[in-house]
Formats: sequence, C-alpha cells, structure tokens
Amino acid sequence: MINYQGILNSISADCSLSKDRGKVATYIPELAKIDSSKFGIHLVDSNKNNFQAGDSETVFSIQSISKVLSLAQAMGLIGESLWTRLDVEPSGDPFNHLSLLELENGIPRNPLINAGAIVIADILVSNLKNPKSDFLQFVRNLAGDDDIDFNREVAASEKRTGFRNYAAANLLKSYGNLKNDVETVLDFYFHQCAIKMNCSQLTKAFYLFMNRGKCQKDKTYLTLRQVKRINALMLTCGFYDEAGEFAFEVGLPGKSGVGGGIVALLPEKFCVATWSPGLNTKGNSKLGMEALEQLTTATAQSIF
Ligand code: DON
Repeated sequence: MINYQGILNSISADCSLSKDRGKVATYIPELAKIDSSKFGIHLVDSNKNNFQAGDSETVFSIQSISKVLSLAQAMGLIGESLWTRLDVEPSGDPFNHLSLLELENGIPRNPLINAGAIVIADILVSNLKNPKSDFLQFVRNLAGDDDIDFNREVAASEKRTGFRNYAAANLLKSYGNLKNDVETVLDFYFHQCAIKMNCSQLTKAFYLFMNRGKCQKDKTYLTLRQVKRINALMLTCGFYDEAGEFAFEVGLPGKSGVGGGIVALLPEKFCVATWSPGLNTKGNSKLGMEALEQLTTATAQSIF
C-alpha cells in the first residue's frame, strides 16, 4: 500500500518552504489579487479514498482546466464530427498564440489551446438549450456537487481585457469556423473559465477520466474510446509549450489553468489536483508542477 497521505504531507511541507513560487497571472486583473502563498493538494484513489494537504478546500479560478470538461461535454453531444473543426496535434506554442491559426486556415491545433476551446464553446452554444447553466450543471453532475458556481467578477474582468481571445474568435469567424456570434461564444467561454472549484472538487470532476468514463457515482458519461482520446490530448497538449516538460518530469496526462490549478491522473489508479497561484514563464503553476513531479517520483507511479 502506498502511503499517499504521508507523501502529500511531505510535498505540502516542502512547498510551504519554497521561496520561488512563480508569478500570479495579471492579464486577467481579478486573478492578480490572489495570494501567492497558497498551496493545496488533493488525491483520490480508485477505491475512492481521499487524501489532502494544505489549502485543498479553498476555491480558485479553474480557467483552462475547464477546457477538458467542455471538450467532454461536446464529445458526448456531437461525437466524432467535432474533429472536422479541430486538429489533435500539440501546438508547441503558448495557450493564446494566433499565428498557427492563420497558417492553418482557422483550424485550431487542438481543443486545449484557447482557439480550440473557443470552437468547443461555439459547439456547446449551438447544442445546449441554456449553454452557461447547462455546462455548469454538467460540471456539478460530474463532481456530484451543486455548490460549484461561476465567479462572475472573474468572467467580467476577463471580458474587459480578453483582447487576444476576441482576436482568436474573430479569426475563427473569418474562416467560417465559428457558427454563433463572437460576443455570445466569448461570454460562454469567459464564464466556463471563471468556474471556481477547490482541489477536492476537481479530483471528483476528473474522476471519470481515470475511471474509464464513469464518475464517482458510477454513472457513465464517456465511452472508453472517448476517455482514451481526452487523456491523450491532456498528455500531448495539456500544458501548451510545456507539455513535453510535464510528460518528462511528471509522466501523467493533466491540465493546467492560469488560476494556478493543475489536475492530473493515472488511469485506474488515482486522480490528483494541486493549486498554487504562482505561474512559471509558460503559464503553468510552478509549485504545482514540482509537487506532481515529487508525487510520481515518491510513488514510482506514472503512465510510463
Ligand atoms: O483565455 C484565457 O486566456 C484564460 N481564460 C484561460 C487561459 C489559461 O488558463 C491557460 N492555462 N494555463
């Protein structure tokens, strides 16, 4: 038996001593207010045993982590036809870069960069009756927790300064790869990114990706094939131009957000979430990546 609790305690103790914690994202002004001294970690294993340390119950902005959940909902709604509008290749570029989008005629490299997630948001806007509340309910159902909500100040803050996302949406529109109007799609996208959750809720919401498509309550949301594809995308594209580094150091499929969260999982073994708001230069949580490297080293568990 692996002593997960002991390992999380030691990771959390190490992180609390860390002097270089990275820098909190400031391009979304609301996120600049977050205290960079926070650190939380939560792990749930395949027997639904929970282990946690630090600020694992404090909610934060999940930001790009939401892109995996919106992809999961879109896959459930329209299946394979989604791949006519998006590719599945790593971009090797930062999350908000636009140059490849123009070079590749408005087909985003993958659904986890901003342009790709905006196409997914467009698909959800087209296919859901009440897009924002239906997506929120989907996330609540996956996590089995109706307390999960949007942080509307964060959504409004990003709307005021989301110039690159407006540029991406307009470029997509010019190539015919956005069916709804830019304002409606971005309003949805800014809200999905502004969902607030804690590490414990995130491991519950992502449980199905380590549990062959079934959530903690045993309801099936995705087929085995869909789970395989989403996990492959997390591994190859979940950390933008640092996906290689995350696979190299940690060795798990995962997804980061500029709110400082990371979720990662080992199929059929565990799902883990970390939160530390300070980011490295690639926009991924600095201590979160270090913590997960320590976890897979100490447990000798990774997909490799
Ligand atoms: O669109 C944005 O820029 C943010 N709402 C999300 C970016 C993000 O989280 C990138 N992740 N590391």
